[in-house]
Amino acid sequence: MKLPPIANWTNNIGAAGAFEIWERAMALEAQGKSIVHLELGEPDFDTPPHIIEAAHAAMLAGRTRYESAAGALGLRKAIAAYLKRTRDIDVPHTQVFVTHGVKGTLYAALATCLDPGDEVLIPDPGLPGNREISVILGVDPVAYPLKVENGFLPIIADLQALVTDKTKAIVLNYPSNPTGSLFPQDTLEALADFAKRNNLWVLADEIYYQLYFTEDAPPSIYNITGMPERTILMDGFSKSYAMTGWRLGFGIWPESLCAAAGHFIVNNVSGVAPFIQDAGQAALEGPQDCVDEFRTAFKERCNYVSGRLTEFGIKHHVPDAGMYIMLDLRHVENLSERTYDLLNEGVALLPGTSMGQQAAGLLRLAFVQEMRQLETALDKIGKVFG
Ligand SMILES: Cc1ncc(COP(=O)(O)O)c(C=O)c1O
Repeated sequence: MKLPPIANWTNNIGAAGAFEIWERAMALEAQGKSIVHLELGEPDFDTPPHIIEAAHAAMLAGRTRYESAAGALGLRKAIAAYLKRTRDIDVPHTQVFVTHGVKGTLYAALATCLDPGDEVLIPDPGLPGNREISVILGVDPVAYPLKVENGFLPIIADLQALVTDKTKAIVLNYPSNPTGSLFPQDTLEALADFAKRNNLWVLADEIYYQLYFTEDAPPSIYNITGMPERTILMDGFSKSYAMTGWRLGFGIWPESLCAAAGHFIVNNVSGVAPFIQDAGQAALEGPQDCVDEFRTAFKERCNYVSGRLTEFGIKHHVPDAGMYIMLDLRHVENLSERTYDLLNEGVALLPGTSMGQQAAGLLRLAFVQEMRQLETALDKIGKVFG
């Protein structure tokens, strides 16, 4: 039967590398092998009970109908207060838009800021979704390098060399997945200057903002003069509140983009379920011990993993935040085969190339399992790569 062709973008979408290794791991598990999963970026913690109870109570109270597409008033106000508390940002709740995860805001922001054929600068290595969503929208993603040699920080000259008259936006992600780097204030100042000079929108992905290992919370580009007018700040609940499956995130939008953001969200998904939003409000307004607990646990795990890698003489980049550590195995021959050898030994790590070409020769280890599992995994990593 002759069928019409499907959209061109479907031929230009990358394989999800993370899932390739995960599926292989699952196949080994089906054969009875036990695997320590350190390949996917999902916290192993459960959503705190008071957040679940808030969702339950909201459902019983009838919060199961359409809600304002921009977000529930209570949650939008709680997000504005959260930004004041964590980053000293003053923003009215009318500039807050709630979405299905940070991915929802990323999609809305790329769709709102760029036309098909425009170019967006995206980090390499970085979240594969930056590229894939751009491709779906007909926008051309242009990867900018975050080099190991430079502590995975961007170099302005590298960025400038990629700018054309079609470049309309840049995606930043700090703390970064997969590198765990924070951008210090002077890097953010240089990036802000670069964005202003080239008249770019800035999509600042701060999803790991609360999971820092430094003494002080990281700086945000939003706090630099002139940036609130051109920045969409993105953050969410998946990592800091262990709510990956709830699909809840948000963006802080410049006033000039709010009408367009509202149109996009209402026509795309009509908003997020109100009972999920009430749970998000409870997360932000309730006790914050869970965030402290997660941050402390990640920091302990990070120190442990880094210590063991040092013992084995395995080079790695010590992260400042987040849930990931990058092993630098550029000297290892046939790294791909050896990664599968490690999987056969019972440890799944993510090939760096799943996140971009700059991470070729690197493996990402997500410390999202408890200590005992990490101990087992590190013994095996030492055996294969030490
Ligand atoms: C840098 C980054 N941005 C966005 C996301 C998507 O998060 P969400 O679950 O809020 O859609 C992730 C998830 O891993 C991420 O690592």
